[in-house]
Amino acid sequence: MNKTVLITGTGRPYALGFNLVRRYLEDGDKVFATIRRPSEALEALKKEYPEKLFILTMDIGSTESVNAAAEEAKALTSHLDLIINNATTASADTMKELPEFDLDQIAPAVNIGAVGPVRVIKAFLPLLKKSPEGALIVNISSEAGSIGKCYRTFYLDYGTEKAALNMLTMTLHNYFKDDPNLNIICIHPGWIRTNPGNTEAPLIPYEHAETLRRLFESRWHDKEGPVFITYEGEAYPW
Ligand SMILES: NC(=O)c1ccc[n+]([C@@H]2O[C@H](COP(=O)([O-])OP(=O)(O)OC[C@H]3O[C@@H](n4cnc5c(N)ncnc54)[C@H](OP(=O)(O)O)[C@@H]3O)[C@@H](O)[C@H]2O)c1
Repeated sequence: MNKTVLITGTGRPYALGFNLVRRYLEDGDKVFATIRRPSEALEALKKEYPEKLFILTMDIGSTESVNAAAEEAKALTSHLDLIINNATTASADTMKELPEFDLDQIAPAVNIGAVGPVRVIKAFLPLLKKSPEGALIVNISSEAGSIGKCYRTFYLDYGTEKAALNMLTMTLHNYFKDDPNLNIICIHPGWIRTNPGNTEAPLIPYEHAETLRRLFESRWHDKEGPVFITYEGEAYPW
């Protein structure tokens, strides 16, 4: 059965969000693709899928903006089956270590990368609850958010926001425990070539988006499996 899907952070044609949008559209699903500024690539895709693709403007760092987008979506769909919280941020200092790192960059990064996805979940929850076959929420995290596996001396902002996102995911997993129609996971998606110049990254966004789409399919109603997983579906240490 075709689904109605919302994906955040979808404006960059070479990045993961945009390629997930493509894969769900190709699968015949209806997609709400969210951006914070206009995207020519997404506008071009809209011409290909005028009936299936809906572009919403939403800054996930702002409760007002997320709530306004949710109101807009309510006028366009009766329900949502899947939310993929893909949007994220990192400051210009992200590769710096403590002495050079401006610590005032951490709170804004956490606001977008960790609170942002939960803002989206909270605002769109009424639509998720109306999913006829039950809804899944996927928070795109990172191995960089694992405290157990942490080896870096940088990523003070990015690592913190992803660790916070993991905690929020597990807390919501507990909250949804007795609701058979709501499931949530977070995932380390692997090292993806989302910067075209970075040829070291092995995973190609368009190919990898399909691997992830299938993985999410397999975990849709599975509330007993691991909550923080790799792109191969294995448990990843918190
Ligand atoms: N690439 C990898 O190897 C890798 C590895 C591990 C985890 N991940 C995770 O996978 C996801 C996708 O990665 P990516 O490399 O494709 O990401 P990306 O290229 O950095 O794209 C992030 C997206 O988030 C959007 N965004 C940033 N701040 C926002 C805000 N306040 N409101 C709404 N949207 C906002 C950006 O919008 P603009 O285009 O307007 O800036 C952009 O479209 C991320 O969650 C990332 O942490 C990626």
